[in-house]
Amino acid sequence: MEKLIVSGGASLKGVVQIGGSKNSCLPILAASLLTPEKCVVRNVPDLMDTRVMCKILRWLGVHVSHDRKAGVIEMRAENPLGVAPYELVRQMRASVCLLGPLLGRLHNCKVSLPGGCVIGNRPIDQHIKGLSRLGAEMKVENGYVHARCDELVGTDVFMGGRFGSTVTGTANILMAAVRARGTTIIDCAACEPEIADLANFLIKMGAKITGAGGPTIEVQGVEELHGADHAVIPDRIEAGTFMVAAAVTGGDVEIKGACAPHLNAVRDKLEEAGVTVTRTNGTIRVWGGAKCRPLEITTMPYPGFPTDMQAQMCALMAITPGISVVTEKIYPNRFMHLSEMARLGADVALESNTAIIKGVNRLSGAPVMASDLRASAGLVLAALVADGETDIKRIYHIDRGYEHIDQKLRELGAVIERVDDQED
Ligand code: EPU
Repeated sequence: MEKLIVSGGASLKGVVQIGGSKNSCLPILAASLLTPEKCVVRNVPDLMDTRVMCKILRWLGVHVSHDRKAGVIEMRAENPLGVAPYELVRQMRASVCLLGPLLGRLHNCKVSLPGGCVIGNRPIDQHIKGLSRLGAEMKVENGYVHARCDELVGTDVFMGGRFGSTVTGTANILMAAVRARGTTIIDCAACEPEIADLANFLIKMGAKITGAGGPTIEVQGVEELHGADHAVIPDRIEAGTFMVAAAVTGGDVEIKGACAPHLNAVRDKLEEAGVTVTRTNGTIRVWGGAKCRPLEITTMPYPGFPTDMQAQMCALMAITPGISVVTEKIYPNRFMHLSEMARLGADVALESNTAIIKGVNRLSGAPVMASDLRASAGLVLAALVADGETDIKRIYHIDRGYEHIDQKLRELGAVIERVDDQED
């Protein structure tokens, strides 16, 4: 296993290029199962999760060629299998996105339940409810979701759950509804830009969809879909992470290739904290020179403040004078990073789904353990401002979602090294 060794104290300066969105890419790759024709997906980030999705698609019989350097994946699903086994699905929760397209294409499929997740309970009841509404017979047995139907029939589907709408659930219903007979109205749909991106890909394949990106999506089912060529949107969470990296290190970073409107909630909170953020010609520039002010942050579905940026903001608040309050409304238990940040000297307390962070003057390097993707990003940011050396173990989590993060940070002046972890 590998670890990162970070020597804190450098103020980040320069330009960073943002890659394609992981969470757009994964359902879009799955959507290629809906047609026997060739699909080409571009701007694919070179991540563990995209490689796992390719592996699963190959297992299903899809011909996949992946040019990792160019960020291009070509797929042809002439005769896909309908079974996605546990050994593959357990490697990545997003493989639940196979359910919708496999059901839409084959009318019969079996996908393993994804299993546990360190960020908290992640049920798929809304996915199951939505696909049942479209006429599928859904059964959960022996750790698998079995879905079958003679045909899918369009209807209204309400996607709001206890914690708001579900993103991959909305993606699944969308990918099934495009092959249903008649009209489907998805109400309380997730509004995340990744859903709009998936819909744009499906539209290129011949689907008839309106309203994606908003709370009500209308889908007119079609008899068949064809091949398509699509470049995925930039990764808003990668961009947001570099915005906070600039702020936390008191740096000056130009973030290129991001979609600025997707980052309004992050920008708003950084500005409220006293960070300067400007947008010009596709570049977001973040100066973190001034002393920050504490914040109250509540995570919410898009366009609210993203849960995937919560750990990174905790790192910033850990060294911001005053008391910050961070409430997690999407995954109430997504606070594994706090105890590791405390090892670096952060003054944090957790009450239910709310973190109370008392800003300290300095953090100091220590060995810490990454527990999940965004928690790892938060730890890297905290390590960048900690005095001395921080060892971050189990960084395979960060490689699931950030393309060459250590290299990109090094190019901005961070002192960060990736080494084999002999002790793990
Ligand atoms: N939920 C239910 N029932 C369901 C589905 C979800 O109760 O059937 C709950 C979840 O437990 C959670 C909330 O609804 O409390 C929202 O979950 P959602 O389904 O929207 O999450 P997801 O689709 O599984 C995606 C991203 C996550 C991101 C969340 C929230 C992908 C592949 N994953 O997950 O990304 O945190 O939306 O924005 O798109 C990450 O990239 O690190 C990551 C975890």
